[in-house]
Amino acid sequence: MSETTQATGRTFTPPAELAAQANVGPEIYDEAARDRLSFWADAAHRLTWDREWDTVLDWSNPPFAKWFVGGRLNVAYNCVDRHVEAGHGEQVAYHWEGEPGDTRTLTYAQLKDEVCRAANALTELGVTAGDRVAIYLPMIPEAVVSMLACARIGAVHMVVFGGFSADALASRITDAGAQVVITADGGYRRGAPSALKPAVDDAVSRVEGVRHVLVVKRTEQDVEWDDSRDLWWHDVVGRQSAEHTCEFFDAEHPLYIMYTSGTTAKPKGILHTSGGYLTQVAYTHWATFDLKPDPDVYWTAADVGWVTGHSYIAYGPLANRATSVMYEGTPETPHRGRWFELIEKYRVTILYTAPTVIRTFMKWGEDVPAGFDLSSLRLLGSVGEPINPEAWLWYHEHIGGGRCPIMDTWWQTETGAHMLTPLPGVTTLQPGSAQHPFPGISAKVVDDEGNELGDDSTGLLVLTEPWPSMLRTIWGDDDRYVDTYWSRFGTDVYFAGDGAKKDADGNIWLLGRVDDVMNVSGHRISTTEVESSLVGHPTVAEAAVVGASDPTTGQGIVAFVILRGNAEAQGEGASGDELVQTLKTHVAKDIGPIAKPRQIMVVQELPKTRSGKIMRRLLRDIAENRELGDVTTLTDSSVMNMIKDKLPAAPSED
Ligand code: WTA
Repeated sequence: MSETTQATGRTFTPPAELAAQANVGPEIYDEAARDRLSFWADAAHRLTWDREWDTVLDWSNPPFAKWFVGGRLNVAYNCVDRHVEAGHGEQVAYHWEGEPGDTRTLTYAQLKDEVCRAANALTELGVTAGDRVAIYLPMIPEAVVSMLACARIGAVHMVVFGGFSADALASRITDAGAQVVITADGGYRRGAPSALKPAVDDAVSRVEGVRHVLVVKRTEQDVEWDDSRDLWWHDVVGRQSAEHTCEFFDAEHPLYIMYTSGTTAKPKGILHTSGGYLTQVAYTHWATFDLKPDPDVYWTAADVGWVTGHSYIAYGPLANRATSVMYEGTPETPHRGRWFELIEKYRVTILYTAPTVIRTFMKWGEDVPAGFDLSSLRLLGSVGEPINPEAWLWYHEHIGGGRCPIMDTWWQTETGAHMLTPLPGVTTLQPGSAQHPFPGISAKVVDDEGNELGDDSTGLLVLTEPWPSMLRTIWGDDDRYVDTYWSRFGTDVYFAGDGAKKDADGNIWLLGRVDDVMNVSGHRISTTEVESSLVGHPTVAEAAVVGASDPTTGQGIVAFVILRGNAEAQGEGASGDELVQTLKTHVAKDIGPIAKPRQIMVVQELPKTRSGKIMRRLLRDIAENRELGDVTTLTDSSVMNMIKDKLPAAPSED
C-alpha cells in the first residue's frame, strides 16, 4: 500500500453552516441513482437552450456518445450574454492580476463586448463554424476572450500551454489543421518577460496552412513581423463593433480540442463538444464547490492551457456567473506569499489548486501563509494527482484555517469535468481519498479481467456509463479513441488508466497511472514522448524514461541513456556532465520545460525482458534508490549490477 492510501485515522464532517445552505444535499445521490438521465437533463436545464433536445443520450453506437440530441445552444451566450440580459452586467467576471502587479477588472458586460469584438474579428479573418483556431497565450484575459469568441462563432479552439515548445505547437497546429493562431509578444514569468511570438514564428514557418497570426501586446518585447500574416490584436479586434448576434449550434457541435499525452509519442487531440460538456462543467462547479455567484470569489490557480483551466477558469465559473480571480504568474514572484496576498486582496472564498503547489508551500513553511489574512476562504479544492494525506492536512490547517472542507476531485482531460469527489455539504472527508463518484457517474474498481472488486481491494478504475462531458473521440483518429479507452473491457467500459483501491467504507483512493504516462506537477507526460526526444539527439542510441516519486512534483522524470559509439567517450568524466546538461536542455526545447528530466544517467545497457521490453520497474527502483525487485525475467541479470555500479551513490538533482 502506498503512502497516499493510508488512512490518517482522521475524518472531517461538513461544517454545519455550510451543510445547512449547501447547493446540494445528500438526497442528490438517490435522485441521480433513481434516474441518471433525468438527473443530467435537470442539470442541462440550468443552461439556456435555443431548442430543447429530443433525446438525452444516444448510446446506440458505443463508444460514440451523443448527448442532448437535437438540442441547440450557444456556449458563449450561456457564459456571458444571458447574465448581462438578466441584469448582472456590472458583476465582475474576472479580477485579473498580472505578475508585475498590474490589474484589470472585467465585468460581465465588458467581457461580452470583448468577446463580441473578437468574434467579429475572427469572422473578418475568414474563420467560420467548424474551423480550428490555435491559442498560445499567457494567462491574460484575452485567453478566455479568444476561447469564448471561437465558441460564439462555432469555431473549435485548440489551446496550447504557453510553456510548450515550438515543436509541440507545430505538431498540434498540423494535427488540428488550424489556420489562425492567437498569441502574444510574451507574458511575465518569474519576474521577467518571457517571449511567445518567436515560438509561433518558428512553428508557423514549418507548417502548412496558417493564414493569420493575431498578436496581443502584453510585454512590449520586440517581435519579428511578417506583414503578410501577422496582425495586432488591438488593431483588428479593437476596431470591431461590440455588437454580435450569435448563432445557435447543435449540442454535439465541437467546442475544443485539447492535446494530452498518451502512451505513444504522439499526443492525443481530445475532442469535447458543446451541450454535454457545458452541462457537466457548470453543474459540477456549482455542486462540488458550492458556488454562490454572489458573494463568492472563486479562484482556480492553474493555467488556462490545461483542461482544469478550460473547465474551471473559463466555462464552469462563467456559466455559473462566478466572480473569479485570474493570475498571470508564478507563486514565488516577487515573493513566496504572492498567492496568499491575492487571497487577502480579493477576499477569495474558494481556492482550487494542485497538490504539487501545496507541497511546495509546505517546503517554504507555514510562516508564509500565516503572514496573511486568509479568513475569507471557506472551501478548498485539489486536482491533478493524488493528494497525500500529509499535504491534505497541511492545506486544511495552514491555508484553510482548519475550517474549510477540501474537495479532492479526480478527473481527466478526457472526462472534461469532475468524476470522483466528495461533496462539501454532504461527505465526511477522508484525507487522501477522492472518495465517491459524483452523482450521475458510475465508477468501479475492477481486476485485470474487468470483474468488479469488493471493498478493500486494489485494481483498475473504470467508468461504466457514459457521462455528458465525456470526450467524443480523438481528433481525426476514431480507431485510436476506441483502442485507447474502450477496448480493454469492451466498448461500454471506459478504461481510465489509473490504479485505484476501494477501502472497507467504499471510498476510492487513486494510486497513479498504470500506463507509461508520468504525472509531473499534475501534468501528464508520456515516457515515450521523452524517450523519442532523447533518441532524436545525435549522441543518444537508446533511452528509457521512468517517473520516479518526487516529494514536490509527485513524479520526477529520470532518463537512462545509452550513447552512440562516437559519443560514448563524452559520457565519462567532466564532459559527461556537460552532455547530460545538453540533453536536458534538448528535451526542454523539444517538448517544453516541464518535460525536462530531473536526472539523466548514462549507462552501457538497459534491463530488458527476453521479449525485448525494457523493464521500467527495475529502473524505477534505481531511480528511487530502492533495493532491486525481482530480476529473474531479465535476459541478463548482470545488467542491473552494471547500471548500479556506474551510478553515483546518491543521484544528484540540479
Ligand atoms: C491524475 C487533470 C488522483 C490521474 C484534471 C488522471 C488525479 C490524470 C486526480 C489526468 C486526483 C487527476 N487524484 N489522481 N484528484 N486528478 N489525477 O488529463 O492520474 O491532466 O488520470 O487532467 O491526473 O490528468 P489530466
